[in-house]
Amino acid sequence: IGKAVDQAAVVPAAASGTLTSKEVTILYGSQTGNAQGLAAKTGKTLEGRGFKVTVSSMSDFKPNNLKKAENLLIIVSTHGEGDPPDNALSFHEFLHGRRAPKLDSLHFSVLALGDSSYEFFCQTGKEFDARLEELGGTRIFPRVDCDLDYDEPASEWMEGVLGGLGEGQDGSPVPPEPAGVPAAVESNYSRTNPFRAEVLENLNLNGRGSNKETRHLELSLEGSGLSFEPGDSLGIYPENDPALVDQLIGEMKWNAEESVKINKQGEVRALREALLSHFEISVLTKPLLEQAVQLSANEQLKELTEPGNGEALRSYINGRDLLDLVRDFGPWNAGAQEFVSILRKMPSRLYSIASSLSANPDEVHLTIGAVRYDSHGRERKGVCSIQCAERLQPGDTIPVYIQKNQNFKLPENPDTPIIMVGPGTGIAPFRSFIQEREETGASGKSWLFFGDQHFVTDFLYQTEWQKWLKEGVLTKMDVAFSRDTEEKVYVQHRMLEQSRELFAWLKDGAFLYICGDEKNMAHDVHNTLLDIIEKEGSMSREQAIEYLADLQQQKRYQRDVY
Ligand code: 2AM
Repeated sequence: IGKAVDQAAVVPAAASGTLTSKEVTILYGSQTGNAQGLAAKTGKTLEGRGFKVTVSSMSDFKPNNLKKAENLLIIVSTHGEGDPPDNALSFHEFLHGRRAPKLDSLHFSVLALGDSSYEFFCQTGKEFDARLEELGGTRIFPRVDCDLDYDEPASEWMEGVLGGLGEGQDGSPVPPEPAGVPAAVESNYSRTNPFRAEVLENLNLNGRGSNKETRHLELSLEGSGLSFEPGDSLGIYPENDPALVDQLIGEMKWNAEESVKINKQGEVRALREALLSHFEISVLTKPLLEQAVQLSANEQLKELTEPGNGEALRSYINGRDLLDLVRDFGPWNAGAQEFVSILRKMPSRLYSIASSLSANPDEVHLTIGAVRYDSHGRERKGVCSIQCAERLQPGDTIPVYIQKNQNFKLPENPDTPIIMVGPGTGIAPFRSFIQEREETGASGKSWLFFGDQHFVTDFLYQTEWQKWLKEGVLTKMDVAFSRDTEEKVYVQHRMLEQSRELFAWLKDGAFLYICGDEKNMAHDVHNTLLDIIEKEGSMSREQAIEYLADLQQQKRYQRDVY
């Protein structure tokens, strides 16, 4: 089709108020890789339909180009307490700041990812959506908020966006979606088609008397064709605790063998099997309670879900599970089928991979903290971590997939120094990093900060680190055992003690990585980094903040936090 034809077709379309542009910018903000994967998929689909597509991480996008964009698709997740992912931070701030441009000619749509068990469900997506409208943009298609099981709503959003963009309006035939021809090496296994990996090894890394139980799991990927890089994660589909499932069935006087539908396609399983593997029973969400109201005549439940009682509802669901719900709000006038149809699909759990594929071909290792705590008078157990700790033997298999993480990668240059901060299970990806650097003979310096409660029982992979240190694969190691001394010592205290050298490494081009607990550790370490930069760089707080933001922009400050 010649240019003139295009032009001719475009003008009337514009006059009738439909969209004229065939250029689409897709920006993603992704913490664990789901939004990024969806952005790539959306980009491919649009390209297949003849659109000129740019897909970019929000952190790589020059905000000034926003004014030139005509069609903007935002795909963004929310994490923590309603926070944007790291690679969305600067763009989010820019857009909400005073320098944000008027966007009167922009057409946009937002796909928001989140988890409805959190109060600020899809918050970041909601903020982008509201702000783009405020700046003058027009929606191509209304925002879609996705819960953990995002595939279907995401496809519906994509269809809606395609419709809104007016595909084929210039009269050219719409090419069919390209048949995805996988590269020769690509695996058949994925998040939606997980591989059953055999357990090779399952050890407790903590010594006798520890407050903690940290499992070291080795799984076989043989025959899967799956591959990964240091920094990537492994997704696991766990099974619920059989004891909890049986209690639930008993409480409701259901028949464990009754057939129930497990998805919209109408596949069926025996109830017990469905509750073990296909549905989430360990967490309550607001949408779940709102639907449960229809199945019970209980007045208290009704009251809890009434508008205005949000605080009481949040306080109720916090730390409770489905067994609590069915016990607290009977009598139920619903059968097992009706009940399971309001449950969320069992979500997978992501763990940072603790091994390098080049060092351990066909294997993947994980470092998993066993989660046990008391809440509302019952002992609670982490679904996946306790399955791994208590019910997974060598020889058993478990469904897994690889989740790429482009936000946590070794520097491309093997000579680049790296600083790794990973207390507790945050150590996992750094074991992968160092295995990889040893295997490939990388010559860059490396510095590990590790912390846990007690030296004697909790120094995860102690002998490996000491060997690497001796051999020079690891250049420097500082440890903080918080409960061996009167006063607590944390990794950030060790960092501060060595602030001059740490800043010298940064000036030398070092990459800095943080992995582990977000709410406390990563937050405190971040502030300590600012202290260090301020002090050693003779900067103001603002300058230090800018320095660290700049490191983040250059991908020299990367976080894998949870
Ligand atoms: P604690 O349990 O004694 O408080 C791994 O869990 C290690 O991280 C433990 O030594 C734990 O100490 C420590 N930790 C807890 N809160 C932290 C924080 N805010 N910053 C750094 N380390 C922390």
